Amino acid sequence: MTHPQVQHPPVDPPKVVSRAAVMRQLCRLYPQARYLEVGVWRGVTFDKVPAARKVAVDPVFKLDPPHHERDEPGTEFHEVTSDDYFARVVGRDEQFDVVFLDGLHVYEQTLRDLMNTLDHLAPRGVVVVDDTHPPTHLAALPDRAEHFAVRDYLGETDKRWMGDIYKLVWFVQTFCPHLTYRTIADNHGQTVLWRKSRTDVPERSLREVADLGFEQMVVAEDVLQLRPWHEIRRELRRDLGL
Ligand SMILES: C[S@@+](CC[C@H](N)C(=O)[O-])C[C@H]1O[C@@H](n2cnc3c(N)ncnc32)[C@H](O)[C@@H]1O
Repeated sequence: MTHPQVQHPPVDPPKVVSRAAVMRQLCRLYPQARYLEVGVWRGVTFDKVPAARKVAVDPVFKLDPPHHERDEPGTEFHEVTSDDYFARVVGRDEQFDVVFLDGLHVYEQTLRDLMNTLDHLAPRGVVVVDDTHPPTHLAALPDRAEHFAVRDYLGETDKRWMGDIYKLVWFVQTFCPHLTYRTIADNHGQTVLWRKSRTDVPERSLREVADLGFEQMVVAEDVLQLRPWHEIRRELRRDLGL
């Protein structure tokens, strides 16, 4: 007996929301958006973000054309580390609506960037931290040189390196009850944070956060609060009245 062939409906590939799309959509929520990007590299994201004021921070820009040849009203380029920028360059009263943290991919540095950012975040502002959901143990190795050595040793072709920034989400969950956060499920993993108090604050020591391994991250993945981007956008708009 022959079976009739079952026609399955075509399955759409999962849609991946790009870094630039996230930043663009966030900036559009503010009439005169003030945008700060820490870690700009070639400007792949920065150049695609429309904002009234744009500030780029990176100790080594790889922009083409280079930053000193650009004349873009409302845009500033600071070729310094994020620590230098926050310590010496940013105006005391400067505020940003959208901040993208994508600099040195190490937990403690990104945590410093987040703490410094909060001092300059507008009351209804939003912060996006890149690379908080590493796909493999290899991608999550905190030391970049070790990551390269292990990658070569294994003959691994996957080039993604995210470091241990995921620990920052555990830090925020434990020590920043005034912040609400969600991690984008339909891209490489970016955590979006805004001001809204939470009551679900677990007890955890600083050491536990610092020692959190990739395996523990996988087992407790719900801490990341993974959600589709369109849901996160809706939620933050409601919470911030945007
Ligand atoms: C992943 S790239 C940024 C990519 C960019 N945001 C984009 O979307 O195309 C990381 C950048 O961080 C910069 N960086 C490294 N250490 C930094 C620091 N301490 N402060 C700021 N930026 C840093 C590097 O020079 C590099 O250009």
